[in-house]
Amino acid sequence: MNELNQIKHKIKHLTKELNKHNYKYYVLNEPSISDYEFDILLKELEELEKKYPQFVSPNSPTKRVGGDITKTFQTVKHIYPMLSLANTYSKSELVEWENRLKKIVDTDIEYVCELKYDGVAIGIRYENGELVKAITRGDGTQGEDVTANVRTIKTIPLTLKGDYPTNFEIRGEIFLPLKNFEKLNNEREDIGEPLYANPRNTASGTLKQQDSRIVAQRGLDCFLYGVYGENLSFKSHYEAVKKAGEWGFKIPDESKNYLKKVKSIDEIMEFVTYWDKHRHQLPFEIDGIVLKVNNYHLQNELGFTAKNPRWAISYKFKAEKVETQLESVSYQVGRTGAITPVANLTPVLLAGTTVKRASLHNADQIKKLGLHLNDFVYVEKGGEIIPKIVGVNLDKRKADATPIQFITHCPICTTELIRKDGEANHYCPNELGCAPQIKGKIEHFISRKAMDIDGMGPETIELFYDAGLVKNIADLYTLTFNDIIKLERIADKTANNILQGLETSKQRPFERVLFAIGIRYVGETVAKKLARHFLTIDRIINASYEGLIAVEEIGEKIAESVINYFKDERNQQIIGRLKSYGLHFEMQVNEHATDKLENQTFVISGVFEKVSRTELKKLIEENGGKNTSSISSKTDYLVAGKNMGPKKLEKAERLGVKIINEDEFLEMIK
Ligand code: IVH
Repeated sequence: MNELNQIKHKIKHLTKELNKHNYKYYVLNEPSISDYEFDILLKELEELEKKYPQFVSPNSPTKRVGGDITKTFQTVKHIYPMLSLANTYSKSELVEWENRLKKIVDTDIEYVCELKYDGVAIGIRYENGELVKAITRGDGTQGEDVTANVRTIKTIPLTLKGDYPTNFEIRGEIFLPLKNFEKLNNEREDIGEPLYANPRNTASGTLKQQDSRIVAQRGLDCFLYGVYGENLSFKSHYEAVKKAGEWGFKIPDESKNYLKKVKSIDEIMEFVTYWDKHRHQLPFEIDGIVLKVNNYHLQNELGFTAKNPRWAISYKFKAEKVETQLESVSYQVGRTGAITPVANLTPVLLAGTTVKRASLHNADQIKKLGLHLNDFVYVEKGGEIIPKIVGVNLDKRKADATPIQFITHCPICTTELIRKDGEANHYCPNELGCAPQIKGKIEHFISRKAMDIDGMGPETIELFYDAGLVKNIADLYTLTFNDIIKLERIADKTANNILQGLETSKQRPFERVLFAIGIRYVGETVAKKLARHFLTIDRIINASYEGLIAVEEIGEKIAESVINYFKDERNQQIIGRLKSYGLHFEMQVNEHATDKLENQTFVISGVFEKVSRTELKKLIEENGGKNTSSISSKTDYLVAGKNMGPKKLEKAERLGVKIINEDEFLEMIK
């Protein structure tokens, strides 16, 4: 084999290996190698692809991390129209449905019960086992080409295995698992951005992101629910689902009752009742159950109405819903100046709690609901904790009711609000002169994840601010005992605690300080990446736009925000003052820290030759790993030294924990 052929072969081999491990990890939930080993293989492929772009396949596993940008999503016609389902809400409606079916096909009918995933529909086309196109539902006749983004969804195979049809389309629902939705909102909270309303809207917004890297980071998932094509070899929906599983798709797990074949309405109701009760325990949201006639032949006989298939129907869960009156809308100003409209409601009892307020999220939401002052609104509590307004009782609206107009000026500092293109939220741009923004920034600075200053909380900040003692984060370090003790409700002990807390905070590492100063869009992870890449604040201040976006996870928006922050003289002054008080603005101790061991849990045991146990623990932490003392199913690695206890070894073996020696460990962080 000549050299190029060898490279081609190597790329093919790595692709196959990575696809296999991706499938084992994401679809089967049964990884057989560590994340670290996976990353090594992926890096190897990335490097080969960089050197030999002629061999890069559009379905390379490297596409999973994103990078492709879609400037405008092309419109694509659906080969098979993407219809919707008719809804039912009761057993009697289901009985009526079955009666209608039986009039057309006079035979016993077998049904498949499935969950109705609450996300966005997608149609994915495969040719010769390769993913070629992924299209959103759009208006049902044509949708948008979101292929690059769909390629980042790890549970969707890029290349199929087994005996798949040469040409077919598979349809399913893309959704954001609750865990990932919460993680995303935690990150939003960290950077002071308004929270996303619910997983479904977030999934739909994510799928339309131009930068597929963002899509990859958010962790979308997908369940498949239908196979479309000519001359398919299987004869029923159930068989199609099972086949799809064999080709590498993530299909509903029958052992978890995600899917069930049944023969009667009573059995359907059993499935419905089960999920109505248990749906909040699912790791994703559903809004009902879907019932399908199983047999394809019968499906064909039943056909379609203008809008829906006759052979399928959905049973929607009734969310608890009440009516109450909208008394007013108030506007909250967050630490980044983001404005959140909040509905003040006449208190009403809903699912066991009294509801007085509901978030309206942004101006678009108000417009979509068409809210008028004093409207009678329907409030619903689904899976989410925050109740939401889902509609207006138009019959009760007075003819002269005034529509809710989103404010044009900040309710606190009266500065004119701005709204950037493509952003859902309005902002007050008076960053350094608007009280809630100033207080919010100081609160963020002292918070646990940031400088973690003991003895202080939002109330103390309020006191300091109102007394004119603290107007920015740097002022905190000029506080004296006499300043603090003068304030109401503050005793000697508290004052000392605060001063001690401030003193201790000077030891926080650079990356925490960088997060704490509150640059817009710079969350914990981004701060870490910036600190580790540039090592000192001065190098970040002097970094060019290109220099910034070259850092992993730093996109255009963050780079612009960092540049704007340091352009402002006032921010530079604050940094200068904080430096003079002794805060860390450079990486300390070990400048070689990495995140190579991120999310990996280690147990060390025994005696080592090259490094001490303490050093070993330090190395684990410095490289982003976590030390724990006992082995559990959550342990990733046991670093085994000499004379280690046989019990630990045995447990590690039993739980399938990777056992490595000191040299192998040092190799990992090299
Ligand atoms: S079957 C002809 N199965 O619900 C329509 N749809 O209005 C065939 N959905 O937009 C759809 N889970 O995206 C089907 N298990 C499931 C589903 C499901 C969610 C969505 C689908 C569609 C909507 C139906």
